[in-house]
Amino acid sequence: MDAGGRGALLQMRAITMEFPGVKALDNVNLTVRQQEIHALVGENGAGKSTLMKILSGVYPYGTYQGDIVFDGKACAFPDIKQSERAGIAIIHQELALSPYLSIAENIFLGHERARHQVINWHKTREDALYYMKKLGLGENPDTPVNRIGVGKQQIVEIAKALAKEAKLLILDEPTAALNETDSQNLLRLLRELRDAHGIASVMISHKLNEVAAVADRITIIRDGKTVETLEVGREGIPEERIIKGMVGREITDRFPKRSVPLGEVVFEVQDWTVYHPEQTERKLLDKVNIKVRAGEVAGIAGLMGAGRTEFAMSLFGRCYGANISGKTFINGKEAALTSIPKAIERGLAYVTEDRKEYGLVLIEDIKQNTTLAKLKKVAAYNVINDAAEVREAEYYKRVMNTKAPSILQPAMHLSGGNQQKVVLSKWLFSDPKILILDEPTRGIDVGAKYEIYTIINMLASQGMACILISSELPEVIGMSDRIYVMSEGRITGELDGRSATQEAVMRHIIQT
Ligand SMILES: Nc1ncnc2c1ncn2[C@@H]1O[C@H](COP(=O)(O)OP(=O)(O)OP(=O)(O)O)[C@@H](O)[C@H]1O
Ligand SMILES: [Mg+2]
Repeated sequence: MDAGGRGALLQMRAITMEFPGVKALDNVNLTVRQQEIHALVGENGAGKSTLMKILSGVYPYGTYQGDIVFDGKACAFPDIKQSERAGIAIIHQELALSPYLSIAENIFLGHERARHQVINWHKTREDALYYMKKLGLGENPDTPVNRIGVGKQQIVEIAKALAKEAKLLILDEPTAALNETDSQNLLRLLRELRDAHGIASVMISHKLNEVAAVADRITIIRDGKTVETLEVGREGIPEERIIKGMVGREITDRFPKRSVPLGEVVFEVQDWTVYHPEQTERKLLDKVNIKVRAGEVAGIAGLMGAGRTEFAMSLFGRCYGANISGKTFINGKEAALTSIPKAIERGLAYVTEDRKEYGLVLIEDIKQNTTLAKLKKVAAYNVINDAAEVREAEYYKRVMNTKAPSILQPAMHLSGGNQQKVVLSKWLFSDPKILILDEPTRGIDVGAKYEIYTIINMLASQGMACILISSELPEVIGMSDRIYVMSEGRITGELDGRSATQEAVMRHIIQT
């Protein structure tokens, strides 16, 4: 028992884990007390997800060294089922719900309310409602999960954990894909679970403001080693203190300065109107107009669902949407960007917000992913020149400072932040003139964010026109020359980047 009268719920001692060529964890210790919210932070690739996968049996006993004691018992989980049985529930970085099943079905998936192999649907619905009510989820339990937003899906994941009577909830970057309101809601829920139900949680996050706001204690890992565990007292903890532990030094300015003279308008969009691809009567974008100059970073701020990604994807070779109308101009001349190859040919690149789904071929290595968008640059007569491909991939790995043992590492074995760097490499390799970045730093640690901002500045100084879509207001404001605010598919404001404030941007967001 500690001074607060609470004992340890979990102890992970001297955990070491090696992958071929990578020591992901080296003697890591982690203690989680009863009824606490424990944040796990560290740079991309530090080993956070790996540590939690060990705890939850994704990596079974025998694949790692060290001891785990949970709830007073030594644990040697052969699989996830056993860790669940012990009271540990993990919600992964990528949600794992079945999109076409209902909320109720998802909550009890794998431990159905059944007798003699027959599912009791009445009880399934009733019990689902019980947990949903507890978590404040006011949906119909029969609603398919793909019909509710990510924020609510996250709550379904938590309901699932509650239904398994979890004592410890592990959340790997739970708010990465959530908007501000849903994030706040989720954090409130974690506090409530702790205070009213005695459920502890481990939360991995790169959003240090949320960590500082919700965590009782914070463990920092760096390069696979435990750096320290910080107690968050009543007086709170400054974010700078956490950053110092993460990167080993102070970061004074989070946004590197850029002083690039702006050139001519490179890209212009006029009256861009787009309808939903399936519900074709639904207008998603309504007469959107934007202009971007050479060397300029034009930010697009807005809430999730404002239509920003739909805008970017419809511009990028019309890969999203129906009944698209409006015009696009490149260097003053109208350019019909009617397919992805045409868009790439005309110098457009789109760094997607969903790197796993659209950005990378996960089973292929860094080298192949790097050259993917413009293979002909390293090929002659349709034959890939291996040496040239290796040279290019090595070059971008160095420029981007991608952490991986070699360019032959499959993309799926990279940490989230390093995957993002490979996606960026891929598009830079395609020599774009117009770069659309959609949430480029989602899930990326503070140090790597700075590196990505530096890369954006470098690209702007080379005359590239950049469009930066971001939900993080400090980021749009810190990086943009000009900010367009989008709300419900329309541009509702245009602000100067240097003088814009969060309040001013918010006013345009909610004015509709
Ligand atoms: N299956 C795997 N095979 C090989 N290497 C791996 C595998 N999984 C993870 N790694 C490596 O182990 C290290 C730790 O990765 P991990 O995913 O735990 O990082 P993380 O702290 O969760 O990072 P992020 O914040 O980017 O999610 C990284 O260097 C990663 O490339
Ligand atoms: Mg991770």
